[in-house]
Amino acid sequence: MITERVKELLSEIEGSQARNKEELEAFRLRYISKKGVITDLFDNLKTIAQEERRAVGQELNTLKNLAQTRFQEFTALLENADDTGSTDLIDLTLPVVPNLNGSIHPLTIVRQKIIEIFERMGFNVSYGPEIETDWYNFSALNFADNHPAREMQDTFFISKSKGEVKDDVLLRTHTSNVQVRLMERQKPPIRSIMPGRVFRNEAISARAHCVFHQVEGLYVDKNVSFKDLKDTLYHFAKEMFGKESKIRLRPSYFPFTEPSAEIDVTCFICKGKGCNICKYSGWVEIAGSGMVDPNVLENCGIDSEEYTGFAFGMGIERITMLRYGINDLRLFTENDVRFLRQFEGA
Ligand code: PHE
Repeated sequence: MITERVKELLSEIEGSQARNKEELEAFRLRYISKKGVITDLFDNLKTIAQEERRAVGQELNTLKNLAQTRFQEFTALLENADDTGSTDLIDLTLPVVPNLNGSIHPLTIVRQKIIEIFERMGFNVSYGPEIETDWYNFSALNFADNHPAREMQDTFFISKSKGEVKDDVLLRTHTSNVQVRLMERQKPPIRSIMPGRVFRNEAISARAHCVFHQVEGLYVDKNVSFKDLKDTLYHFAKEMFGKESKIRLRPSYFPFTEPSAEIDVTCFICKGKGCNICKYSGWVEIAGSGMVDPNVLENCGIDSEEYTGFAFGMGIERITMLRYGINDLRLFTENDVRFLRQFEGA
């Protein structure tokens, strides 16, 4: 029966596919072309009784239309296929793949903030080498030849000079080397900060690392006083840790400054009330500082009768840990995304 055949072909076409050009051509030959099955059926129409011919003709037209629609669909799909031949359409209802932005490293955030604050006070930014001679790291800074900081336990030496100690090559232990280089090549007034990486031979733990970051500052001009140092750091503390912050200076010792002072700031976690971050003292230490020792000025070719200066140095890790309540130094270098992502948008 011709209608049985039509039904068969209808479901055959419904279930057919054309995943590539060959399959599309096979479909065309079988259902569309003059030699195809549907044309055959139209030819057979003559043999059918007059009364039924009209109804069967309509069925055949439905079949022919279906074949043509499917053929157009397949052609369109194949035209849109990608290089792999895949004809999968894009599903616009799928949830988007989140666009993961990187975050700025907390040490970078804090370094930038420190730089901004000092730039507003008229300091510029200077950089210097991480591999340095003893002269720039120690000797010019008034360290005695037998000063313990030179010992292997503190300093990574690259090569020991056969001649004078000042020619030893080492990894800088502080960014003070940049102060010396700056004073050597620039006449006062000098007002600069020096951010950078420093190296000390320490075992890595939650509280110590062999690589860390400092920002040092130097101001040399006529009549620079201890009051200028105090005011500058007081202003810095208020900008960095909040308007209510106070600072406290404790006498200290550095070979390159005289007098020297350690700078404490009111604990910004407990606001001075006492907590485990400040060990219940209400104060946290943030920097070393002092008036540049006249010997240092002279070592760098600056007349210490005419000029005075102050210098300070702070650890970026320490300030970052205090600011964000981070209790393990190793988190800064482990690159654990669960840690780093917490600073997105910070
Ligand atoms: N260079 C000192 C250090 O690394 C810090 C410091 C800088 C102290 C300038 C006083 C003045 O510990």
